[in-house]
Amino acid sequence: MKVFILGGTGALGRIVTNLALQKGIEVKAFVRNPAKMNVQHPKLEIVQGSILNETDVSNAIKGVDAVVWAIGHENKKAAKKIMSMDTCSRGSHYVINAMNMVGLKRFIAVSSWGVGDNSRKRTPLFFRHFIFRLILNKEFADKEKQEEIIRSSNTNYTIIKPSRLTNKIKNCKLQVKHKLNYSHFSNTPRVLLADFILEIIQDNSFVRETVEVSCKN
Ligand SMILES: NC(=O)c1ccc[n+]([C@@H]2O[C@H](COP(=O)([O-])OP(=O)(O)OC[C@H]3O[C@@H](n4cnc5c(N)ncnc54)[C@H](OP(=O)(O)O)[C@@H]3O)[C@@H](O)[C@H]2O)c1
Repeated sequence: MKVFILGGTGALGRIVTNLALQKGIEVKAFVRNPAKMNVQHPKLEIVQGSILNETDVSNAIKGVDAVVWAIGHENKKAAKKIMSMDTCSRGSHYVINAMNMVGLKRFIAVSSWGVGDNSRKRTPLFFRHFIFRLILNKEFADKEKQEEIIRSSNTNYTIIKPSRLTNKIKNCKLQVKHKLNYSHFSNTPRVLLADFILEIIQDNSFVRETVEVSCKN
């Protein structure tokens, strides 16, 4: 099996890449800057491109069995004026078009807790009214549009909505539900999320479903 990881140089993308390789799964990593990719492995193929360039996406998607979306928006400070606010919706549209062209079905997309009214109303007040509404409003509007595009596609998608991602490796079990109630302390270790992503690719579960995930201590 070969998995196409979009955002291979991101915090989650790197962990999914490493874990997949450890499990003997081949990886094609889609990255903007190959120099940032500090992994070398005989089963790793690195492809340079931007998710906002449809040709890059369609050229890269060949020869894989499943696609993992681990791309996020630019960091506001780092991006300065050239920040793109439609990365997730436009990028997913290109990915789905490219998947259709090669008959590829399995698409795992990482969205976020608090995206969409239904999820947001179950998040803590501080996040709901301050972080998500005032700080991340444009990013979340784009992610909501991304989720709609994916749900209306004919792909075998799984949309995963994790709580705050952390790099901590904690002794906790990942809760996976259609509706989770979050607290201020809700968090999802990236390594557990990566493991879940690879598990559902391999057993083909949660197809055409949206799931919320978070750590349960
Ligand atoms: N961080 C959280 O607490 C949190 C919580 C819930 C959900 N999420 C979601 O989880 C996912 C992973 O989050 P993360 O924090 O691990 O990600 P991250 O470290 O912010 O990585 C984002 C990745 O997106 C890539 N990217 C951005 N624009 C791109 C473009 N035009 N073309 C190609 N690649 C592009 C970046 O590439 P470069 O390496 O070149 O910059 C980077 O690899 C994201 O969808 C995020 O929204 C995050």
